[in-house]
Amino acid sequence: KKSYKITLLPGDGIGPEVVSVAKDVLLLTGSIHGIKLEFQEKLLGGAALDATGVPLPDDTLSVAKQSDAVLLGAIGGYKWDKNEKHLKPETGLLQLREGLRVFANLRPATVFPQLVDASTLKREIAEGVDLMVVRELTGGIYFGKPRGFGTNENGEETGFNTEIYAAHEASMFWRKRVMALAQEYPDVELSHMYVDNAAMQLVRYPKQFDTIVTNNIFGDILSDEASMITGSIGMLPSASLGDSGPGLFEPIHGSAPDIAGQDKANPFATVLSAAMLLKYGLGEVEAAERIESAVLETLNRGFRTADIYSAGTKLVGCKQLGEEILKSVESHAPAA
Ligand code: NAD
Ligand code: IPM
Ligand code: MN
Repeated sequence: KKSYKITLLPGDGIGPEVVSVAKDVLLLTGSIHGIKLEFQEKLLGGAALDATGVPLPDDTLSVAKQSDAVLLGAIGGYKWDKNEKHLKPETGLLQLREGLRVFANLRPATVFPQLVDASTLKREIAEGVDLMVVRELTGGIYFGKPRGFGTNENGEETGFNTEIYAAHEASMFWRKRVMALAQEYPDVELSHMYVDNAAMQLVRYPKQFDTIVTNNIFGDILSDEASMITGSIGMLPSASLGDSGPGLFEPIHGSAPDIAGQDKANPFATVLSAAMLLKYGLGEVEAAERIESAVLETLNRGFRTADIYSAGTKLVGCKQLGEEILKSVESHAPAA
């Protein structure tokens, strides 16, 4: 029996609610496919700050590094918003991505036929959208130096960050490097777009996009925008991968403090991140596909959280949706 070590980082806000659902889905799916999953739960973000005084404890990073894959909920919340930068939950997340060297962040945005009416775009625009944002994750303005506060020549206070990419990370000379690389892949059609136009084109005619390759900050923004085409930010999973070592899998949304603790969170993004964990993190493609089918099956059976609710469907909370997903996972099981 194959056995894997998974680090779970529930984090803050709705993080623990959605990770709990995804964990149960992974366990059941694993048991059906003869995969043993050992979970180790660790602290990250605000939860880690409260317990240890730092947003990414050494113990969390070392356990994560030694595992086969990492599943993260979300971090952050009002309580820590005024903390100094090095004591913010978000800093812990960035340190984790950097520590795991997961530079390639895959954020698929797929409009499921069952959710076309949940999209804020017209049916004919949203229908059939299936794109992938490939976001650089460990460089750019998030990590660039120098950064800080100063004074300008008029004595006025200033704040500054640095958007910088080294050659191995690609860069503002992305265009040049991508064009060189494209020579090796003649079957891939390559075009370039400024990010302002891309943001507009995404809501004008999103079906023109297949894969969007972009830097850290633009990828962050464009993926949130793309998520609404699919119905909700609560639908978009992600996989963050490096050259070697465990991948990091997380929904693209945050800790949603406005709905935390109310059993309203949509767990699909985290459940789909768990499917990406099986597929890209562990190479367990069949188990991953079972989870993907179970998500579609649960949508077919009409279950919806509030963010993707539309007339004629069944409104449920995070926990109940989780139970319905488990039933769907089970019902696709081959007869024992
Ligand atoms: P957010 O993504 O947490 O929430 C934005 C809006 O989307 C809110 O109205 C929220 O209720 C809703 N939403 C998000 N996820 C949802 C879900 N699964 N189901 C239903 N509704 C959902 O973004 P924000 O409000 O800007 O940030 C809140 C906190 O989360 C901040 O501290 C921020 O730094 C942090 N954050 C963390 C991550 C992460 O951990 N990767 C990502 C983004 C934001
Ligand atoms: C995300 C978030 C993070 C980011 C924040 C919380 C630092 O928005 O994971 O998309 O900008 O990468
Ligand atoms: Mn984001």
